[in-house]
Amino acid sequence: AQAAASSSDGFLRCLSASIPSQLVFTQSSPSFTTLLKSSIRNPKFFTPSIVRPLYIVTPTNASHAQDAVLCGRQNGMRLRVRSGGHDYEGLSYRSERPEAFAVLDLSNLRAVRVDLQTSTAWVDSGATLGELYYAVGKASNVLGFPAGLCPTVGVGGHFSGGGFGMLLRKYGLAIDNVLDAVLVDARGRLLSKNTMGSDVFWAIRGGGGESFGVVLSWQVRLVPVPATVAVFNVPVPASQGAVDVVTRWQQVAPALPDDLFIRVLVQQQTANFQSLFLGTCDALLPVMGSRFPELGLNRSSCKEMTWIQSVPYIYLGSGSTVEDLLNRTTSASVFSSGYKATSDYVRQAIPRDVWANIFSRLAQPNAGLMILDPYGAQISTVPESATPFPHRAGVLYNIQYMNFWPMAGGGDGAVQTKWVRDLYAFMAPYVSSNPREAYFNYRDLDLGENVVVGNVSSYQAGMVWGHKYFKDNYQRLAVAKSQIDPDDYFRNEQSIPPLANSN
Ligand code: FDA
Repeated sequence: AQAAASSSDGFLRCLSASIPSQLVFTQSSPSFTTLLKSSIRNPKFFTPSIVRPLYIVTPTNASHAQDAVLCGRQNGMRLRVRSGGHDYEGLSYRSERPEAFAVLDLSNLRAVRVDLQTSTAWVDSGATLGELYYAVGKASNVLGFPAGLCPTVGVGGHFSGGGFGMLLRKYGLAIDNVLDAVLVDARGRLLSKNTMGSDVFWAIRGGGGESFGVVLSWQVRLVPVPATVAVFNVPVPASQGAVDVVTRWQQVAPALPDDLFIRVLVQQQTANFQSLFLGTCDALLPVMGSRFPELGLNRSSCKEMTWIQSVPYIYLGSGSTVEDLLNRTTSASVFSSGYKATSDYVRQAIPRDVWANIFSRLAQPNAGLMILDPYGAQISTVPESATPFPHRAGVLYNIQYMNFWPMAGGGDGAVQTKWVRDLYAFMAPYVSSNPREAYFNYRDLDLGENVVVGNVSSYQAGMVWGHKYFKDNYQRLAVAKSQIDPDDYFRNEQSIPPLANSN
């Protein structure tokens, strides 16, 4: 305990030489708890038994991040990097096991600079997707960016883990559109694409930033969108054939033209078909009539707007505005529900009778929901090894399973968590296998956790979860890790272990 105390003192002393004291928070600082909580999206990781950071450091420039890494290394203080705090397992701000660590919270580093001449932007990791979209939408009504739906998700975690949303069939993932990045490595160096090495630049685009250092900013290619897009949200209750329409959707959605994306949210006994079309309703209706007549889309359900308006409309509802994209704060309703989530990839359409069974599970008390995101088109044309994200050709769709529970009254979510685990077990025969693929950004520690041997995470043990997220790319990720952080300074329960020091 004494050694730990002195290393903490050393860390603070070291920081004080270069980082203004108002950017460093100890557990006894009056605003520590508020700051810690500020971007936590899963409040089940905000209870007294959770292992919290000893410090939170909030850099306002790159050199602060470099100094935090150097001070951390000199004093045996690990860093967990937090951008938007949306990690499903809370790994950006809590540890499964007792550990002395500080959080490097990047929320002050959130500039977005759009360059219309080159249709590119530099975005800092601490920006939210909403802030990025807003800046792009302000600069042009015919440019967009293909990333996730939820505006409060942080750029740092989202990009480094892949990042997909309604434009994935036309333009792929966020990482498919990253051109350059700025990284602070475990030696405190500030590196760009040209200096970090091709393996590391490959690795941070989908392999998770936390294993390789601190990604401070990203240069992205913006993508063309028409001045008018069309959106619809069509609910189909089970009583009106939802099982049949979802069964049919599996064949239709991944094969549609690339400018049409139709996802499904299945909850209770209703399948909600949500769509973004890069064109007008007049152009969409005949496509729907010929390709997916089972949905029965009519003109009154189709709404036209600009792409930037579609973002809050789809995620926050019809009463929301483009300015709502700038709201970073956790709403009370979000913070009141803990959740459990996991994911699957479907490569062969699931038979109708299985869907009927799934719908009966969704009718159980305390049931959760499923989100089905269709792949195909652009996301599936990229070779599996081009980025760490391997779920490409042959994937029909991604499934996300989620279940929520109220935290008030000490709810522990045991029943809801069991519902997710039971459904996941039931789905095994119908989804990808060897490995059973999972999306890294929908992190689930049930898939496996690192084992630390001789103070380095074990390559062998990491395979258990690593192959699910990355398939054969796991090995190259470990090679990149050996190059940039052979001592395994940057680690968490699911970080990439170094290969050279494999145990
Ligand atoms: P957070 O800050 O918690 O970081 C996540 C992980 O990345 C941690 O391990 C952290 O250490 C590391 N990290 C973060 N910033 C880093 C940096 N700058 N350098 C190095 N490492 C860094 N996904 C998707 O693809 N499409 C979607 O539509 C959605 N929608 C969605 C909605 C909601 C409500 C949630 C909670 C999540 C999603 N996601 C998603 C998943 C999301 O992409 C995933 O949780 C991201 O990792 C979140 O990034 P944050 O920066 O917010 O997380």
